[in-house]
Amino acid sequence: MSQPELPPPPTPAPDWGRAYTAPDLTVYYDKARCIHFAACIRGLPQVFDTAARPWIQADAAPAEQVAEVVRRCPTGALHYALKNGPAKSALAEPTGPTSIEVRANGPLFVRGDLMIAGAQGSVRDTRAALCRCGASHNKPYCDGSHRQSGFEAAGGERINTG
Ligand code: SF4
Ligand code: FES
Repeated sequence: MSQPELPPPPTPAPDWGRAYTAPDLTVYYDKARCIHFAACIRGLPQVFDTAARPWIQADAAPAEQVAEVVRRCPTGALHYALKNGPAKSALAEPTGPTSIEVRANGPLFVRGDLMIAGAQGSVRDTRAALCRCGASHNKPYCDGSHRQSGFEAAGGERINTG
């Protein structure tokens, strides 16, 4: 007699750090992956305000606007889940073809439908800054240590794999 097919194991919810909740969405912030690129602050200063406490005021702009600015975060330090959108999952975020941007004197900015294998296992994500200087304390992610280590390397290339 053939064995009944087992259901796939449940996918654990990704660890996206601290949650900041508004009525229509939750923003997640992982401090360890933030390299102070400031795309969030430039995009919606009333939401991302380092002088305010908490520094993310998730309800200070319409949810779709907040989500759009979160998607600009190149490192994956920011994520979001819309209240009426798909469940908390990297796949809830729209992705284009995979792209790799080589930052001068810094990390690789990677976007797409990613599976990132690190010491803690594999995680699925849509955005990440990957260390290429070797000095990060949060590998495979960049933690900004390239600035202190004086890492120098050319950048400016953008590679599309799709
Ligand atoms: S855009 Fe992302 S990496 Fe840059 S400051 Fe904001 S949270 Fe940090
Ligand atoms: S490239 Fe940023 S810490 Fe290595």
